[in-house]
Amino acid sequence: MTDLTYADYLQVDTLLSLQQPRSSGTADRAVVLAEHFFIVAHQSCELWLKQLVADLDAVVDTLASGSASGSGSGAADLELSAELLRRAGDLLRVLHEQVLVLERLPLRHFVEFRPFLGTASGAQSEQFAGLARLVGTDRRAGALYEAFTAAAERSGLSVAQVCRLGPGAGGLHRVAEALLDVGDGLWRWKVAHLGLMSRMVGGEQGTGGSSGIDYLIRRIVLPFPELRSQRGQVHAAEFAGSTG
Ligand code: HEM
Repeated sequence: MTDLTYADYLQVDTLLSLQQPRSSGTADRAVVLAEHFFIVAHQSCELWLKQLVADLDAVVDTLASGSASGSGSGAADLELSAELLRRAGDLLRVLHEQVLVLERLPLRHFVEFRPFLGTASGAQSEQFAGLARLVGTDRRAGALYEAFTAAAERSGLSVAQVCRLGPGAGGLHRVAEALLDVGDGLWRWKVAHLGLMSRMVGGEQGTGGSSGIDYLIRRIVLPFPELRSQRGQVHAAEFAGSTG
């Protein structure tokens, strides 16, 4: 048997065959390079989204499994959930950087290859929609929050109690903190994406046919509202206590 190589293990040839600028053959080298840059940034986002959604799906399964509460194997499940959530928070930092790096896309080159995008738009990203369903919005709890509240209930704790107990709530506290890291990470990504979009196309419509800026602004919300408000209550209780 021949030794497995780096290229074989990672299927590098297949991976590197997937960047096909549509402006190739009709535009200047700098424009084709810019489109290549645009494709690499988007494909990298999709790859990291794949890991992110798989990690968060695993968190939902682990928290919902019934053992993710209390001590013993339940405690191990909570720690695994917190670890996966912290990794997801860091992956969102990577995705944030993928958006920021596109600020180095020269506008004059983007203008030249943009017609080749047709009606293709990031708004059609199925993996991003999956991420949005997991995380939820400021009005609708996603699968992650539902699984977290179910795990807290099984431990006999409400979300308010988890917030009040802080580190005393153990694994549930660490999961709650990491959920906020994920929610804030997604919010930060959306803000960076709005900035990129507005400097690239201003008030123009998006290729997906949306109004562009207004559409994206409406979608920038802070997930996990109950966790946020319960943390606020901790301040209120502390303040009332200290003023007697
Ligand atoms: C020059 C760079 C970019 C521009 C001008 C841009 C523009 C837009 C616009 C105008 C929209 C609104 C939908 C539409 O009408 O098309 C949108 C949505 C979206 N774009 Fe981008 N985008 C850029 C880069 C990226 C990158 C690097 C990603 C990473 C995958 C991305 C992912 C998305 C997603 C997921 C949405 C839906 C957002 C939501 O539903 O909140 N975009 N983009």
